[in-house]
Amino acid sequence: MGDLLRRYEGTVAPMLAFDTDVHVDHAEGPWVYDAAGNRWADFACGTAVANLGHNHPEVIAAAQAQLGRLAHAGCVFRYDSMVDLAERLRKITPDGIEKFGFANSGAEAVEAGVKLARYFTKRQGVIAFRGAFHGRTMGSVAYTTSNAKYRENYHPILSSVFVTGFPHPYRWGMSDDEATDLALDELARKFKHEVLPHNIAAFLVEPVQGEGGYYPAPPRFLQALRDLADEHGIMLVFDEVQTGFGRTANWFAADHYGIRPDILVMGKGIANGLPLSSYGASAEMINQWPVGAHGTTFGGNPVACAAAAKVIDVMEPLLPNARDLSKRAFERFADVQARHTTIGDVRGLGLMVGVELVSDRELRTPDAAAMAFISAYGLEHELIVIGCGPDGNIIRFIPPLTATMDELDTAIEVVDAALTEYESR
Ligand SMILES: Cc1ncc(COP(=O)(O)O)c(C=O)c1O
Repeated sequence: MGDLLRRYEGTVAPMLAFDTDVHVDHAEGPWVYDAAGNRWADFACGTAVANLGHNHPEVIAAAQAQLGRLAHAGCVFRYDSMVDLAERLRKITPDGIEKFGFANSGAEAVEAGVKLARYFTKRQGVIAFRGAFHGRTMGSVAYTTSNAKYRENYHPILSSVFVTGFPHPYRWGMSDDEATDLALDELARKFKHEVLPHNIAAFLVEPVQGEGGYYPAPPRFLQALRDLADEHGIMLVFDEVQTGFGRTANWFAADHYGIRPDILVMGKGIANGLPLSSYGASAEMINQWPVGAHGTTFGGNPVACAAAAKVIDVMEPLLPNARDLSKRAFERFADVQARHTTIGDVRGLGLMVGVELVSDRELRTPDAAAMAFISAYGLEHELIVIGCGPDGNIIRFIPPLTATMDELDTAIEVVDAALTEYESR
């Protein structure tokens, strides 16, 4: 690693926050390998992207076939793979999401979704939720409050963005219902004191807050947003960049809730590692966006679209496996929690499993040192696990949907053993 690190330090901008010092040479399935043949099970999935495991052979073959035919179009001409993907997206996205645009990253797709909401409603305001992560471009960072560091030195940020509470029941020491009431009360006060609802173009919300700490929205909270959106003509925008494409053991988190977004934003796992993102809405809405109102040179790249279409085909039969893995993961982590006082809470949805680490269960004191210990221990035991949350004390356990039960069990056993060692120090 030494030489690579020196070369990075010499030429690569230093702000990228690498979770590990692992120097990967190649990857296959859940495994990443260094040049010496050491391996680690990547239970971070390249930050919730390689949901089918790395280098899935069918996805790679689809991308290679497209690469051999056409690698780039840049909106100068049309090609099959974008339409093939859009047709598949229409089948798997929630009812009412009918037409799709494409971009390169999650942040770009968030921006496009918000631009669409503004264009359609002719309103400026956006309501975002405290603890959310929507990306790092100047627009997205205005909606991102998972950690104040993402905004440091970038003020003034976009105006007409109103940030209000998202229910964090565990951190607030409340039930889901109490936390929902508190968050909805804050929203009501926003509308009373800061901005009238008819100025708001969009509620922008992650159905499960990701980077902010793996908090699934209580169903009543999301339903209240849906109702308020209907009442006031506000677009409900679901940022499913992290929750989409099987991560919650359904195509989208919206499927668990049975709540319809007006605009759906997708990224990360969509092409299992090729840079692609997308946003969808009803034909009625998106057809009002005239030519030139938004655009991109690289978004919807032919190779990335071909990969994404294959991801959908490959993932469909894997969703039941994801549900089995999810059930097992929550059962096993409940058992681990029963034996380790460092675990304050286990929560999440599907294969988004958040394990919150605390030094004092009564006070729920965040224990970032435990997270750092578990990550380091994992690296010594062939496992990559990463953290999340503003205090850096939540394990975000993100297995690939292709993991076997044995691989899942082994990963949880490593975390269990790490906790035993941490607590015995
Ligand atoms: C929910 C959510 N939205 C948006 C983004 C931004 O995506 P990207 O880093 O591809 O811009 C992320 C990335 O972690 C995310 O988790």
